[in-house]
Amino acid sequence: MTRVFSGMQPSGTPHLGNLLGAWMNWVAMQDHADCVYCVVDLHAITAPNEHDPATLRRRTVELATGMLAVGVDPERSILFVQSHLHEHAECTWLFNCVAGFGELHKMPQFKEKSAGRGESVSVGLFDYPVLQAADILLYDTDEVPVGEDQRHHIELARDIGQRFNHRFGEVFRLPKAVHPPAAARVMDLQDPTVKMSKSASSEKGIVHVLDDPARIEKKFKSARTDSATDIRHDREEKPGVSNLLEILSAATDRGVDALVTEYDGLGYGTFKGAVAEAVIELLRPIQERYAELDADPGEVARLLEEGADRARAIAVPRLERAKDAMGLLPPGTA
Ligand code: AMP
Ligand code: TRP
Repeated sequence: MTRVFSGMQPSGTPHLGNLLGAWMNWVAMQDHADCVYCVVDLHAITAPNEHDPATLRRRTVELATGMLAVGVDPERSILFVQSHLHEHAECTWLFNCVAGFGELHKMPQFKEKSAGRGESVSVGLFDYPVLQAADILLYDTDEVPVGEDQRHHIELARDIGQRFNHRFGEVFRLPKAVHPPAAARVMDLQDPTVKMSKSASSEKGIVHVLDDPARIEKKFKSARTDSATDIRHDREEKPGVSNLLEILSAATDRGVDALVTEYDGLGYGTFKGAVAEAVIELLRPIQERYAELDADPGEVARLLEEGADRARAIAVPRLERAKDAMGLLPPGTA
């Protein structure tokens, strides 16, 4: 069976972009692949701004709870917290000795996040993609479902795996990135030319997975559109309307063309109301499941422990083989 691995950072409150762009796809992949999903807290602490420990802890639980609520199924898939396995950090060290300074230095995400920070930028931020390579390669991963922005990181993981195998013998399976189909990019409701993101300047443009129906309705009703009244899909000319069409399409699993036929001529007010309604309905069962899990933190903790045990069963032998291949003396031998 195809092995899938993906991770998400506990660096904010999950929003509609995370749900439609990542989670729905993660859930769907469980039907035909052997999936491993990870809350990557070790990545979250590389963020250039100092993080608050209590907030990180809370967000880690929230993200894991969100994944379960959306439908990541702990019976079929493995869900765990990255820092619960020291193997990820240990494997990163091995890969640090295989990865090149030059290739890390030109990673677009590193350039972006370190811009203007000079020498104060942390080694962890620089090393971020190597930790990500460890995440992926430790699980014999075939496919990594991620957004386009992660393409370079997955290619680097592949390069590191290939170089390692070439130098030390076949240890790692080489992964490839897969990008989810349609509606993969949810734009900010107030500025539809930028992606909906945790780091947006205004709350009004972001729909959080746990927003209540009244708030969701308000956000969609005040979504930025244009001064015309026609409803058609044109990302250049009509970014706001196009974004709403794509959200509605993803939320209802209907094609954009059919939606245009149905809503064109009815006015923006009606259309926005329909999008709000569809998103509220999409989120309702997720929010209900979240509330149940949230009321039983012991159960979430238990599921995460079980997930970590199952993750370990895959990662430990792979790491041991890598260490052995590199010539690190196995304990108990001489
Ligand atoms: P982030 O919240 O940036 O850490 O992203 C976590 C995951 O959600 C990644 O797989 C992203 O590709 C996906 N994602 C984040 N924001 C959006 C968005 N606005 N539209 C679609 N997917 C997104
Ligand atoms: N860097 C990824 C992101 O920001 C998160 C991540 C960490 C990841 N490790 C991973 C994604 C392994 C896929 C596979 O979205």
